Order: sequence, then C-alpha cells, then structure tokens
Amino acid sequence: MDTQEFRRTGHQIIDLLADYFDQVGDKPLFPDVSPAHLQHIFDEPPPQAGESMDEVMRELEEKLLPYCSHVNHPGYFGLITPTPTPAGILGDLIASALNQNIGAYAIGPSGVAMERQTVRWLCDLVGYGAGAGGNLTSGGMTANFIGLKLARDQISGDRAQHEGVRDQWAAYVSEERHVSIDKAADAIGIGREGLRTLPTDDRFQIRLDALETALEEDKRHGIKPMCIIGMAGTTNTGSVDDLVALRRIADQESIWLHVDAAYGGGMLLSQTSPDLLKGLEQADSVTMDPHKWFYAPLDAGAVLVKNDERLTRSFGLQPAYLTEQKDTERERYQYFVHSFEQSRRFRSLKIWMSFKRYGLKEIGRWIDANVKQAHHLYDMVSAHPDFEAVVEPVMSAICIRYTGRAMDDAARTALHHDVVQQIEESGKFWISTTVLKGKTYFRINPVNFRTRQEHIDGLFDMLCTACENVN
Ligand SMILES: Cc1ncc(COP(=O)(O)O)c(C=O)c1O
Repeated sequence: MDTQEFRRTGHQIIDLLADYFDQVGDKPLFPDVSPAHLQHIFDEPPPQAGESMDEVMRELEEKLLPYCSHVNHPGYFGLITPTPTPAGILGDLIASALNQNIGAYAIGPSGVAMERQTVRWLCDLVGYGAGAGGNLTSGGMTANFIGLKLARDQISGDRAQHEGVRDQWAAYVSEERHVSIDKAADAIGIGREGLRTLPTDDRFQIRLDALETALEEDKRHGIKPMCIIGMAGTTNTGSVDDLVALRRIADQESIWLHVDAAYGGGMLLSQTSPDLLKGLEQADSVTMDPHKWFYAPLDAGAVLVKNDERLTRSFGLQPAYLTEQKDTERERYQYFVHSFEQSRRFRSLKIWMSFKRYGLKEIGRWIDANVKQAHHLYDMVSAHPDFEAVVEPVMSAICIRYTGRAMDDAARTALHHDVVQQIEESGKFWISTTVLKGKTYFRINPVNFRTRQEHIDGLFDMLCTACENVN
C-alpha cells in the first residue's frame, strides 16, 4: 500500500466513522444474528493474494459493521464499556501508526514521558503524593493482579518473587468484588480459597465486623493476613466500602490495602459528589480504568501505587539484551523494570488527548449526567408500585426488579431473563441481569455521554410493558 492509497482510504474511514457516530442512535443496538452465521461468514482459508483496500473495506461494511454491539448507541446501559471519545479514538489511530513500544525507553522516549505524565495526573486525582507512580495496563484485571502481587511481595519481605508462596496467606474482600480479584488471588499463588469473600451490609459495603472476625479466625489457625481489597464502586451497585476504616484495620494488621476503583474512579471527576471516594489516597495501590468511566477507547486500565519503589521491587529484572549500558545515570525510565507487561501499547496517548481536548471539567459533567440519569430512573422506580430498586444509586449503576403479580422466585427470575432478551431483541436498549443477595435484578448502567434522560424514560416504559406482558 503506497502513501496515496493510505491517505485515500484513511479519509474514507474517517468519513465512514463520522457518519457512523451521526447515525448510531438509529441502528439496532445489538445484531439479530446467530453466532453460527458469524462464524460462517468469516470462514475462509487465509488469503494468499492481497486485494485492494476498497475490496477490504467493502467486506468490513458487509461482515463486521452490521454485526457489532453498538456501545456508542445512547441506549447502551450494559457491562461497563463506555462510548469512547472521538479524541481518544484518533489518539489510538496515531498510536498504531507510531507503534511506540512503551516497555522500553529506546522504543518510545516521548511516549514513555507521556505515560509518566498521564499516570501522574491519575495519581493527582487519587490524592497521592510525589512518591507515587504506576502503569497503564490492559484493564482492571491486570491492574488488580499487579496490586495483589505488590501486596504479596511486600508482605513476604520480597521473598515471594524468588521462592514462591511458602506460607498460607489470605486476602479479604467483599462478596461484591469483581471476579478479577478471584483470578488475581489464583495468579499470585494464594489460591481462590485464600480469598475471604465477606458479607456486605444493606448498602453492599463490606461489613467491618465480618472482616475483623475473619482476620482473627485466620490468625488463630496460623493463616497469615496479606491484604485487604476495598471496593470503590462495585460492578453491580457502585457501592463504596468505608476506605478510611479499611486503612485503619490494614494498619492494625500491618498489611497492604488495595482498592479496586476500576469503575468508580470516574467519580473523582464528579463535581456533584467529589468526596465519594474519601480515603482512596490512603490505599497502598489503586486500580482505576480510564477505559471505563473516563470514556477512553479500550484498552486503558491503570494501577497506581503510593510508593512507586514497590513496582521496581516486584518487577525489577534486567536481562542483558534490554540493558542500556550507556544510561549510567538511570535517566531513561524503563517500564519493563517497573511493570509486569513487557511490550506495551502506547496507551497514554488516547487518555492524554481526551484530557487535553475536553478537560477534566467536561468529562466530569458527563459523569455527573450519567449519575443523574441513574437517579432519575430510581425516582421513577420508587414511584411505581410494581418495581423496586435494591438501593439508591451512588454512581450510575442501578439494579431494579419487577415485583408485580404473584409468582415464585424461579418464575420471577425467568421473567427478568425473558425481559432482558426482549429488550435486546428490540435493538433500542441493552441491559443485563444480576443477582444480589439471592434475588435477580435488572442491572442498568449508563456510562455514555450520548445518553439523555429521554433514553432512560424510553427504557423504563419498555420495561414496564414487557414485565406486565410476559407470561
Ligand atoms: C469493579 C471492577 N473491577 C475490575 C474490573 C475488570 O476490569 P477489565 O474488564 O478492564 O479487566 C471490572 C470490570 O467491569 C470492574 O467493574
């Protein structure tokens, strides 16, 4: 492909995407297609001869675009994948073109500086001081894994990196944790059974009495506490644990406090509830996902660490082929010595460009609008005799339930699943179901700057009709 073809196709693609954004609200949000059909349309041997970009684009328009889940659609209220900012999308395009490998300074000097600055901005939002640092990661899963590994390494006196886990350790988190915490417990070698998943109160915050009992119990049995994981925005209800109390308990035990703010971190930009994550700055490490509620395109997670030095202690290996012998002053920041990932995409560019283009105030206004939409739904649900909300929303996630007509639990669960299916088939909205304390709920989560109150009204109308009419 010569630069002329690149230029022409590039212009066409930007035109196509601009039209896509203008029209996305009129498209069916979720494709009416079977997985087998999708497999079938892509089923072909690898192409031996190339074709023109016009041909390739024609195929994309035929096979890819009609069958996407349109998270850019204003009726997408689903799993936490926001509509990405146009500035961020352009940033990702530039990142691919420059292909800087942020793992090593030699393959991206300015990109390394940009990531360090972006991480600094995120650390400032948390309220961390000068000694803090971090990495942009593939997402919250990797960030939670790194947070727990830092806990393990510090608590073992930096022996676990070499010897593995020899003692029996335990970590403590609420039953409302994200599944990535279970995977991280497995990956750091304490096993999923080493994770104490503790009951929550009626606002889905970890019960401190249960935490203290679990700590005592483990110590009585010779099991060593390693870390407490606080939730700052649970996936289901956006609940925030009492982070100040968790810090106090972690200090009493001399253990690490990691906080999962993968979703809830966006609230740091809120102008209406700026103090919701009080105590976050006291955590030893924090997960915060710009590709969630900062509206950055995938992928862009972050692990932020109060004491940057811990990252180097955990990951500081320097093989000969990566050592820059002439950098005797260690001026060149080498992410591969301070992070888990080696080759790393130039993730900061899309975050940096979004922050520059919109400013934190504007992004905060989008976040507050999403929170207001959840509250609007809560008010409508509270005024309706046949619906209930599990709890008043603190962020944009809200879980509601149909309580009309007498039926047993199994039938009510089936009704919620049927209605979600109908909503998906309507092509106008997308929501999911979840289970909270044994009951099934609709989970609705606006994380989209294209969503307006009328979309929430439309969803609730559709839910009312569908719930009343399901047999
Ligand atoms: C609270 C929380 N933590 C962690 C994650 C995992 O993040 P990712 O999907 O970016 O790996 C999620 C995902 O929704 C989440 O809601």
